[in-house]
Amino acid sequence: MNGRDRAGWFVRPMTLEDIDAVFAIERETFATPWSYGSFVRELTQNASTARYMVLDQDGEAVGYAGMWLVIDEGHVTNIAVRGDCRGMGGGAMLVRALIEEAVRNGLVYMTLEVRKSNAAARGLYQKMGFIDAGLRKRYYEDNREDALVMACEDLPKALGGLGDNAATM
Ligand SMILES: CC(C)(COP(=O)(O)OP(=O)(O)OC[C@H]1O[C@@H](n2cnc3c(N)ncnc32)[C@H](O)[C@@H]1OP(=O)(O)O)[C@@H](O)C(=O)NCCC(=O)NCCS
Repeated sequence: MNGRDRAGWFVRPMTLEDIDAVFAIERETFATPWSYGSFVRELTQNASTARYMVLDQDGEAVGYAGMWLVIDEGHVTNIAVRGDCRGMGGGAMLVRALIEEAVRNGLVYMTLEVRKSNAAARGLYQKMGFIDAGLRKRYYEDNREDALVMACEDLPKALGGLGDNAATM
């Protein structure tokens, strides 16, 4: 814990007004960050396929997550929580919100790629019902690290296992 108060956090759909905060988190988090325009395009031109959520703290995005809905499968595109807000359940709230949205859209299956070295993200996904499902060799461009493919094969069941409290408002 780092002393911040997570009371009042909730997950809601990302809007164009959130992108400044989201892009700041993206840049400080990832070695090869998405561009600002990528987020704009996802919200404006890819809205039928893409779903993006933010973790809201007093109106400000302190985390975000996204996925693509591809036929019967959800594919997680990115997730990050601002550095000073990690370890307080926000990542779990975001993944749960993606699963809820996927189930609302009739999907039963969700996949993602994660760096083998990313213990925090792997721990998060495991906790949310994902299992190791494959390997993509030298997947990441910056250091040619392998990606682990993780999958949740029964989203409604995973959601049931997470208890009653909805992530979203
Ligand atoms: C991965 C990330 C989103 C997790 O967000 P978070 O808000 O810190 O996660 P939570 O507090 O909700 O933790 C949920 C679970 O994740 C796992 N976890 C979180 N941080 C962890 C760590 N440092 N080491 C191991 N497991 C960890 C635990 O299982 C935890 O459950 P627990 O608290 O009951 O032990 C965050 O660390 C982050 O933004 N990392 C940088 C971006 C990133 O790597 N994204 C993933 C790309 S695939």
